Amino acid sequence: MPTPSPAAGSAATQAAAVLRRQRVRESAARTYARSFPIVPVRANGMTVEGADGRRYLDCLSGAGTLALGHNHPVVLEAIRRTLDSGAPLHLLDLATAEKDDFTTALFESLPPAFADGARVHFCGPAGTDAVEAALKLMQTATGRSGALAFTGAYHGMTAGALALTGNVAVKEPLPGGGEVVRLPYPYGYRCPFGVGGQAGAELSATYVERLLDDPSGGVVPPAAMVLEAVQGEGGVVPAPDDWLRAMRRITAERRIPLIVDEVQTGVGRTGAMWAVEHSGIVPDAMVLSKAIGGSLPLAVVVYREEYDGWRPGAHTGTFRGNTLAMAAGAATLRYVAANGLAERAAAVGARMTERLRALAGELPVIGDVRGRGLMIGVELVDPAAEPDACGARPAAPELAVRVREACLERGLIVELGGRHDAVLRLLPPLTVTDEQAAAVLDRLADAVAAASGPAVSA
Ligand SMILES: Cc1ncc(COP(=O)(O)O)c(C=O)c1O
Repeated sequence: MPTPSPAAGSAATQAAAVLRRQRVRESAARTYARSFPIVPVRANGMTVEGADGRRYLDCLSGAGTLALGHNHPVVLEAIRRTLDSGAPLHLLDLATAEKDDFTTALFESLPPAFADGARVHFCGPAGTDAVEAALKLMQTATGRSGALAFTGAYHGMTAGALALTGNVAVKEPLPGGGEVVRLPYPYGYRCPFGVGGQAGAELSATYVERLLDDPSGGVVPPAAMVLEAVQGEGGVVPAPDDWLRAMRRITAERRIPLIVDEVQTGVGRTGAMWAVEHSGIVPDAMVLSKAIGGSLPLAVVVYREEYDGWRPGAHTGTFRGNTLAMAAGAATLRYVAANGLAERAAAVGARMTERLRALAGELPVIGDVRGRGLMIGVELVDPAAEPDACGARPAAPELAVRVREACLERGLIVELGGRHDAVLRLLPPLTVTDEQAAAVLDRLADAVAAASGPAVSA
């Protein structure tokens, strides 16, 4: 439980004033600030301290950005060293020692079959810009415009990336939407074919293949297929490795470039340095952001050099030379590799998932527990409702909001996602200790029980 410090009284008043000013001055589109009405003043590792002295275990980690948690010494040291060196902090896309070193660290971290002969393009510093870049790259290379994307996908908020995204609520108010053919992602619990499990994934692959070959299927040859190996915002839905291999085969046979969006899954998060390593697929392009900047903004697209048909300036942008992010990112990539943090994520994630599955046996509001490594989803459902053909009960979004609040009261930051925002998404740093993992699960179990128990429904 978070314990307010003695001076918490006035600090709490000041924090309340900051929150009040935020409410009246910032846009209605603000998001996390609504879920977590706290004013963080300090953070270290997995712990965030609010202005009122309360402490929280952070299972959001900047939406999966903080592979090493907050203010890791290795990251701070890299930033300090760069600052003290007098290196220019902003350099468009000019060559620097820091960029050179980051590029080396990045290529060393990538699967050799992909990295050998690959090119990197530094993008504007957000995942969504790198998605745009990847799409434009493949449009240029193929001379085609449309794309294949999946139900539940999340690729960002700029026009092209939003067109690829599945979330109807954020797309609906906007005109247009781009030429994107939506394909069924293998989501075992809420199977688009109503069968679930491996059979559902096999049907998805069969459907994709037959649709692409159907001369009356309505699909004009696309510039690319874009997918996540584990959907994050979509509700932590891991794709089976066989399905990913099927997508690679299907796209390769039809000369459709395959772009894997590893913005959230990268840098050890899923229990491998890159999520593509689990299935062994070699994509044509990978989109990388979040953790690659070691908590500072950085985004790149890496692609096989035969696609490098861009003209100079084809995807430009002012903020593509963030020296500090490159230094912090190189330090992070090397630290994750040198300390076996991907393997640790796999082991800790497996233990946490196992305990959550046991909890699901006791708490019927937990409909499904799934994930890969330290990307874990807990789907909350209405246990009183009838299950569908796959055994899935309707989502319980209001309960999910109550659980998120109950978690915060217990000193735990957990965000929601997925269909109807009913999935608790656990994204602890890869450095999470066994004690912290246990504390996360204790607080979560307590919060779910409290929010779904008689005290709430009374
Ligand atoms: C898989 C994936 N792609 C792209 C993005 C967009 O990244 P950004 O928010 O940095 O634009 C996200 C963000 O959560 C993501 O999870």
